[in-house]
Amino acid sequence: MPGKEKAPANAQWPIAAHFLGLAASAGVLSMGVSIMAPRVIRESIWADTLLGLAVLSVLCAAALWCSRRLKLPLRDLAVAAGDVIKGHLDARVPARQCPQELAKLSAEFNEMMEKLQKTQAELQAAKTHLEERVAARTTELAASNKELETFAYSVSHDLRAPVRLVHSFAELLAREAGRLSAQGQGSLRSIRTEAQRMNEMIDALLEMSRLAGAPLAVARVNLSAMADEIARSLPLTGVERQVELVIQPGLQTFGDERLLREVLQNLLGNAWKFTRHQSRARIEFGATKLDGEHAFFVRDNGAGFDMTGAARLFTPFQRFHTATEFEGVGVGLATVRRILERHGGRIWAKSEPGRGATFYFTLGEPAPGQSARSP
Ligand SMILES: Nc1ncnc2c1ncn2[C@@H]1O[C@H](COP(=O)(O)OP(=O)(O)O)[C@@H](O)[C@H]1O
Ligand SMILES: [Mg+2]
Repeated sequence: MPGKEKAPANAQWPIAAHFLGLAASAGVLSMGVSIMAPRVIRESIWADTLLGLAVLSVLCAAALWCSRRLKLPLRDLAVAAGDVIKGHLDARVPARQCPQELAKLSAEFNEMMEKLQKTQAELQAAKTHLEERVAARTTELAASNKELETFAYSVSHDLRAPVRLVHSFAELLAREAGRLSAQGQGSLRSIRTEAQRMNEMIDALLEMSRLAGAPLAVARVNLSAMADEIARSLPLTGVERQVELVIQPGLQTFGDERLLREVLQNLLGNAWKFTRHQSRARIEFGATKLDGEHAFFVRDNGAGFDMTGAARLFTPFQRFHTATEFEGVGVGLATVRRILERHGGRIWAKSEPGRGATFYFTLGEPAPGQSARSP
């Protein structure tokens, strides 16, 4: 073509020219080889590329298939474990085609859950059975307690008359005491004192039965105001001592006002009695939190007692001090315990001989709809 210079053959076919050059220099290569080489190479490159792509696709598909075979059972396992954590013990891993190890893992998970569910069902059945037995025993105990109370009440009631008679005859005899020997007069004094004491014990027992059996009239009670009132009825100054009374204000609760008054009267009365020998007595009524539990307390710095067997103090006629040291019949704390138990609460003490005593007590939770007490 005029004006257009034909490019040299080695510019159009650089690779062929290169081979040609090599052949020429070797003097052995024919012209046919130099024309065929570019096509063969091109086709070979295409073929290799296509083959490569095909192999790559197959590998990708295989990898996808493998990852699916691993992923799905693992996801099932994770879902089932999540359900178990939420409390669904009936969660199981569904069966599916997967590698042997994963299938075994799923089967073992299912077996474990089967056993767990069975154990839980057995535990639940045992718990229900135990609850039924406890409820039955509680009913039985309540019935026999009631029976015992009735018995104690009727015995105390029946003893009252003969004891009064003994006391009256002793009084009559005392009018003729002049005719008795000194020893006889001493015996007569003992008969009168003991008959009087027996009388007091019977009265205390009857009072305890009466209070323990009375129906509860629950209302809001201001314990601080009540303690204040009781304290004011105690003679705070004596010939040889002074009593400091510390009452935490604003302590309220729900309960039977009459019975709770009995509780405070007994506890403050005891504190008053057992601080008798202190020249500077201190009696405190307050509230505190012990091991997360709200408790009221009455504390004093009086005679105190040894804590060994202190639980006995809450049963009738148990005393740690003699009647000559401190008067009393030993029914007060038993009455207090009964009243508090009827309110769903309890009482306990902490003391050391000569270092005062603290009586802690709780009351049950307020009925729904009533605001909490504020110790
Ligand atoms: N604040 C106290 N300090 C020391 N001892 C106490 C106190 N309160 C109770 N006690 C002991 O518990 C016993 C039983 O108390 P209680 O039942 O009230 O009977 P009482 O007051 O008639 O003796 C008392 O006799 C005493 O030994
Ligand atoms: Mg008492």
